[in-house]
Amino acid sequence: MLKVWIVGSASQLGKAINDVLDPLEMEVFNTDVDELDVTQTDDVLNFGEINRPDVIINCAAITDTELCEKEPELAYRVNALGARNLSIVARKTGAKMVQLSTDDVFDGTVKAAHTEFDEMSPKTVYGASKRAGENYVREFTHKHFIVRSNWVYGHSDNNFVNNLLKASETEDNLPIACDQFGSPTSARDLAKIVLYLIKTNEYGTYHATCQGSCSRYEFAQEILKLAGKDTRIVPVPASQSRFSSVRPDYAILDNFILRIMNVYEMPHWKESLREYMEEWKEN
Ligand SMILES: NC(=O)c1ccc[n+]([C@@H]2O[C@H](COP(=O)([O-])OP(=O)(O)OC[C@H]3O[C@@H](n4cnc5c(N)ncnc54)[C@H](OP(=O)(O)O)[C@@H]3O)[C@@H](O)[C@H]2O)c1
Repeated sequence: MLKVWIVGSASQLGKAINDVLDPLEMEVFNTDVDELDVTQTDDVLNFGEINRPDVIINCAAITDTELCEKEPELAYRVNALGARNLSIVARKTGAKMVQLSTDDVFDGTVKAAHTEFDEMSPKTVYGASKRAGENYVREFTHKHFIVRSNWVYGHSDNNFVNNLLKASETEDNLPIACDQFGSPTSARDLAKIVLYLIKTNEYGTYHATCQGSCSRYEFAQEILKLAGKDTRIVPVPASQSRFSSVRPDYAILDNFILRIMNVYEMPHWKESLREYMEEWKEN
């Protein structure tokens, strides 16, 4: 049985990995900040040495981009040093390491999709701290998968899909950015590619987003349509929408390596969203 340590297990992605994995195939250690703070180096090393996982999946992060701007030290402590601490464990124990990362490592000014071979150029503290995390993982481990994704939504009280649905219950006119572009990716589809990769030895950096792209406005239209709501949404610049945070404007990742390896295809974002909304309607 593969021993898998899911760090940041209460994250959208950590929950989705737990939902999708086959418990007959894997023994899972789940930890989130209450059980194990990734910034506490000795605790992280002890946990790793005692439990000796075959795979470490690091979903722990400060993902609130506004908070990262306000508290850069916190962002670097968790997103960079946390990743470093886990990489040290992976190196010591020979575990494979999965580091989740983001399109925010690019500045979003180039109106073309980025491949894994493009130079990182973050403009936000979140992006810079995630770049630092990636670099630690590259420096300390060989057996790593750095998986960058984009506009992730899953089981959380705080993501674009759920915030929009909540607001649509009480408001009629929702201002949504028409100048921010991305590829909405369900945590479940991201979980599936992570679980696929850890069974391989195809190490390196991957872009893993759902196929296709859209503006926040188009994303919101599709969410409300699938939810059967007729709430009016108004296209505005990102600076005028509370549903947009400090982020790259053009956040499109090309899943170039997955495409040339020709072994795994992510679904289209609309298909993925439909599946998520069907589940949402049932609950
Ligand atoms: N969300 C996106 O759109 C997106 C896009 C691309 C990539 N990613 C990356 O994908 C990964 C997962 O994202 P997500 O949206 O699923 O994350 P999330 O839901 O925001 O969860 C992050 C988790 O990390 C925990 N955490 C924070 N500080 C910690 C610490 N010091 N020690 C241990 N755990 C700590 C958080 O706990 P608290 O909630 O108690 O703080 C939370 O449970 C992250 O690496 C993120 O950068 C996310």
